[in-house]
Amino acid sequence: MRTKLRRLENNLRRLVGRPPRFSAFGTKASDALRSTYKGRSADIFFTNKSHLIHKWLHYLPIYDQTLEPFVGTKVRMLEIGVSKGGSLGLWRKFLGEDATIFGIDIQPACAVYDGEAASVRIGSQDDPQFLRSVVSEMGGLDIVLDDGSHVASHQRTSFNVLFPLLSEGGLYIIEDMHTAYWPSFEGGLKRRGTAIEFLKDKIDYMHRHYRTRGLNTEAMMPDIESIQFFDSIAVVRKRKQLPRYHVMAPSPESSP
Ligand SMILES: C[S@@+](CC[C@H](N)C(=O)[O-])C[C@H]1O[C@@H](n2cnc3c(N)ncnc32)[C@H](O)[C@@H]1O
Repeated sequence: MRTKLRRLENNLRRLVGRPPRFSAFGTKASDALRSTYKGRSADIFFTNKSHLIHKWLHYLPIYDQTLEPFVGTKVRMLEIGVSKGGSLGLWRKFLGEDATIFGIDIQPACAVYDGEAASVRIGSQDDPQFLRSVVSEMGGLDIVLDDGSHVASHQRTSFNVLFPLLSEGGLYIIEDMHTAYWPSFEGGLKRRGTAIEFLKDKIDYMHRHYRTRGLNTEAMMPDIESIQFFDSIAVVRKRKQLPRYHVMAPSPESSP
């Protein structure tokens, strides 16, 4: 009955040009789905018997290919958005005991998860002072996973504060970027300031030395190595870039 009503509502939303509700994509973890997704994070997710985890299944292989190099290391990870605490448990199992894992959430109720799989601090992702104090407590930052409010202005504030605090080679991951198309999250197709448009601007920033003279120097090169877009997830890797040189080998002077 509920499913039918949801379908009806989403059909009506489609008729009036509104995006579907999140729940339109919700389904049960059937055996067919379980067997489609394999790998470290899928194993942890599908065998979870502890706190609830919300995940889009197509994120699981992306976590594996992106985060596997950090497994078993002393990586410092901050997850924005704790909810029922389940995903902090997933990261603990995924990354191992040596990882420093912090979660932040605006809901005071999330404090009950502090000290379980990770440390939890209460505050808003659009509060720069709060974000800086959490990173200072963590002793540095290698991975940020923004799965918080998904509101465009919040995503921008968090990125602007936290990306500069990331270590060299660190990753900044933004989830649920489809909300960039939904008005209730300050979204809309090609609307300025959504996470999608914000990161598209970063692509231009990565290439600025090809447009403006004087920027191809060690001091002026950008600190973004790559921006990877998946469906609804983007992964930005921080690494100071070297000036660009186009060279021939062997050099024309030395060749016979
Ligand atoms: C999608 S849930 C997180 C789910 C969790 N990461 C998981 O995978 O199970 C989003 C969470 O973000 C929190 N949130 C909403 N606005 C926030 C804000 N401004 N700052 C920090 N957290 C916020 C909500 O309270 C909610 O718990």
